[in-house]
Amino acid sequence: MASIGRVVVLLGAPGAGKGTQAQVLSGRLGLAHVATGDLFRAAVRDETPLGLTAKGFMDRGELVPDAVTIEMLLERLAKPDAAAGILLDGFPRNTAQAEVLDTALEEKGGRVDVAPYIEVPEADLVARLGGRWICRAAGHPYHELTKKPIKPGICDVDGSELYQRDDDKPATVQARLRQQLGALATVVDYYRGRGVLRAVDGRGEIDRVTADLLDAIVPATSSKA
Ligand code: AP5
Ligand code: MG
Repeated sequence: MASIGRVVVLLGAPGAGKGTQAQVLSGRLGLAHVATGDLFRAAVRDETPLGLTAKGFMDRGELVPDAVTIEMLLERLAKPDAAAGILLDGFPRNTAQAEVLDTALEEKGGRVDVAPYIEVPEADLVARLGGRWICRAAGHPYHELTKKPIKPGICDVDGSELYQRDDDKPATVQARLRQQLGALATVVDYYRGRGVLRAVDGRGEIDRVTADLLDAIVPATSSKA
């Protein structure tokens, strides 16, 4: 049976900065960045059966059904790079997903070591999502005011084109927040109950939030590093 290293679950509302922070943290900590939203967007782009199923839910700002999401996540965890440890971004989104994750990790002799929760007020989330651009190749996030690319319209990391996500239209942003914040609260409670939740103020500069996240993650995982 394959084993697994450190497991970090990055929690936060839509637009809280999970993708922004995961990009930096996964590199610093040597963890595979596993983002279910990115996996779904790749499937939509490639017009796979999974993508065709997911698209309607994503466009309505709803969660994709658990059966589909969980199967996709478990397939991703079986890939070789996950063995060194994973940084989850966007999974779990409800307690059923959290329970499946616990069982899957247990089978590999692992567990969720820490669940940092990036807290951002709702008004800031709307502003962040409205001004966001991401890259075609890997979903690296930018913002037209707070994180501009060096060259307009081009990703600093991989040179691919930047575009605005369909679900960042104002009506869909409102739907995502309305439909998903309740489920997020149940996941926060789930990890608080297991003693691994670490709340981090997500309102500061991106680098400041990264430093606070590292302060939360490193002590909780250092014995496994
Ligand atoms: P997903 O892609 O996971 O979207 P999300 O959770 O809504 O989160 P976002 O990616 O929108 O925000 P983020 O927290 O990554 O913020 P970012 O770093 O980009 O999911 C999309 C959809 O897929 C879901 O709606 C659902 O349909 C489906 N799905 C995915 N996972 C699922 C699951 N497990 N179960 C069921 N369905 C699932 O930052 C946002 C912006 O803010 C950027 O412009 C950034 O530059 C800026 N920013 C970041 N940090 C700061 C800062 N400190 N100060 C100022 N600006 C900042
Ligand atoms: Mg994201």
